[in-house]
Amino acid sequence: MLESRLPQVGTTIFTRMSGLAAECGALNLSQGFPDFDAPPALLEAMARHVREGHNQYAPMPGVLRLREQVAAQVRHYRGVTCDPETEITILPGATAGIFCAVMACVRPGDEVIVLDPCYDSYQPAIELAGGRAIHVPLTTADFAVDWERVAAAISPQTRLVMVNSPHNPSGSVLAAADLAELEQLCERHNLFVISDEVYEHLVYDGRQHHSALQFPALRQRSFAMFSFGKTYSVTGWKTGYCVAPPALTAELRKIHQFVCFVAVTPVQMAIADFMAAEPDYPASLASFYQAKRDLFCEALAGSRLRVTPSAGTYFQLLDYSPVSDQRDTALAEDWTRRHGIASIPISTFYETPPRQRFLRFCFAKQDEVLLRAARILCAI
Ligand SMILES: Cc1ncc(COP(=O)(O)O)c(C=O)c1O
Repeated sequence: MLESRLPQVGTTIFTRMSGLAAECGALNLSQGFPDFDAPPALLEAMARHVREGHNQYAPMPGVLRLREQVAAQVRHYRGVTCDPETEITILPGATAGIFCAVMACVRPGDEVIVLDPCYDSYQPAIELAGGRAIHVPLTTADFAVDWERVAAAISPQTRLVMVNSPHNPSGSVLAAADLAELEQLCERHNLFVISDEVYEHLVYDGRQHHSALQFPALRQRSFAMFSFGKTYSVTGWKTGYCVAPPALTAELRKIHQFVCFVAVTPVQMAIADFMAAEPDYPASLASFYQAKRDLFCEALAGSRLRVTPSAGTYFQLLDYSPVSDQRDTALAEDWTRRHGIASIPISTFYETPPRQRFLRFCFAKQDEVLLRAARILCAI
């Protein structure tokens, strides 16, 4: 028998809930993907590049034209200059990028601080690198970082801190003061950072996204991860990028070239075309998704569920404590089977789930689907 390298890991909650939704014919607000198509010009560019024969390996760090577009956007949206040759790497999705960055940083015996609830790919990557994840919970009231707890969790073995803003699953966002705290801690203890910013453009109510790239000392120790899948509604294209200083980028690329070697060529070329033609497209996302969030939350006004509108991402947490005292995993299954609505139980994102009662609903869905979902939830 093969001894498992990841004995704790089974099928992910996303696969399980999407599978159950399909089996029950339920509305699927569980997995995080849009149920509408990407901009037509992007789809047409993809088809064109495939037809025109751009179907062989791209350069290992990514198509240069795309890296140049990324540099232009980082300058435009974050006011930061980065070198497409030495600081930007196109990767087959942010998940692959995070895996490569963890492999580049973490050695056997190292400790990595993660903030619970945390995205489910972090811990397996840390374990495969021989490291140990040290879980620090976000505050239960508003999913904020308790920096004193983070500081208390740092040991001589700590090597890396992983942060995610806007945050999946809670929808909370880090303030500039949080990044300043992180910067100070990492300077003091000589730590690296993976800053998962895949939802960077999805922040609401006039808030700003604060990137690790905008804090000079933090930037020197950070791998900032982004996903074209989220920004351009093409999660199935699994393409993203990492911005990191040259020395960190060089180490990331050493791993990337033996995990995947490259990201998909026509996808990179199509995204480069679209970014050049529509540089303002990402700026339209906040109002687009905020309208969906508001539609969903307002339609829930008559329900017994407690709603605090999400500050970022395309996820909305609903507090079901007035309705049920079941565990969230059991309730998510029950509602999928009995009421025909699938969600994600957020306890699965914790090492030690606190006593709270939230289910996560993805509102990257057509308005009619959100209204149907709200009608079901109002009747519960
Ligand atoms: C917080 C977070 N990080 C990373 C990813 C993965 O992005 P990609 O699909 O580009 O691998 C996701 C996708 O859901 C996510 O929510």
